[in-house]
Amino acid sequence: MKIKTSAPGKLMLFGEHAVIYGRPCLVTAVSSRIYVEAEKSSKGFSIDAPQVKDVRFVEETVKIFKEKYKIDNGLSIKTQSDFSSQYGFGSSSAVTVATIYALSQLYKKKLTKKEIFDLGYKVTLNVQGIGSGFDIAAATYGKTLYFIAGGKIIKPLKLKALPLVVGYSGIKADTPNMVQKIKAKMTNKKSKSSIKIQKIFEEIENIVETVKEELINNNWPRVGKLMNQNQKLLRQLGVSTEKLDKMCQISLKAGAWGAKLSGAGGGDCMIALVSYEKKEAVKEAIVRVGGEVIEVDNNTEGVKIE
Ligand code: MEV
Repeated sequence: MKIKTSAPGKLMLFGEHAVIYGRPCLVTAVSSRIYVEAEKSSKGFSIDAPQVKDVRFVEETVKIFKEKYKIDNGLSIKTQSDFSSQYGFGSSSAVTVATIYALSQLYKKKLTKKEIFDLGYKVTLNVQGIGSGFDIAAATYGKTLYFIAGGKIIKPLKLKALPLVVGYSGIKADTPNMVQKIKAKMTNKKSKSSIKIQKIFEEIENIVETVKEELINNNWPRVGKLMNQNQKLLRQLGVSTEKLDKMCQISLKAGAWGAKLSGAGGGDCMIALVSYEKKEAVKEAIVRVGGEVIEVDNNTEGVKIE
């Protein structure tokens, strides 16, 4: 028997970095997915995952799953991806969650979404050592989530897709490294840098709480303003780049309601909130400053059987 599953990538909407320190964030699942095919095998364990950035996520998932459910069979796993791991869409978390779900189906283990999340988060921490788990939650639950680190709160919001344009800055970000950089500035809680960062995180939390309501009301101009405020705080935090700033600024000039980087910063993507009428102008503007527009929908389905 062969089982095929898929899980979505994600885009951080609001609250990156602050979420590592117990503050809430908002994340949305995207239409680009990773597919996993799992099959029992008499020939030991094999993984064929050509587009996966780090195959350890698949290996660790299998190891944890086998240990938990005391399984000793050979296994063949194949993965396939709609998107490049370059973009920072969370290919590692998507492949982790799709693998967990495929194994649970193959071995007839009924897992709740929270159990899938918990296993996936364990894999993230074992392989990467750091992370809030927001990407694992997006891959598991899909849609748009209000999330607190470690899955303390995972709350799907009743929303329609956001009118977003996504731009890739052309530079691959190193998330663990970006997170460590901030951590290093916060080791001494009473230092000036730590106090400044804690203040930034407090303001980011306020934005997340406010924007959650505005999103539900589809109040895009207000959501855009809050995006710009979040971007300003991320700049103060030192995680934006000249290119990301440029892409955000040009999007605003071309008529976007708001724009910000999405994710750890230091590269990867930015998002702009744009009306239907201004969409083409914003896309052209992003390309003009050297960005790459990525066509992707948001607020999409979580992990599922294909
Ligand atoms: C990275 O996309 C978002 C961070 O907040 C890391 C995390 O939450 O795991 C920087």
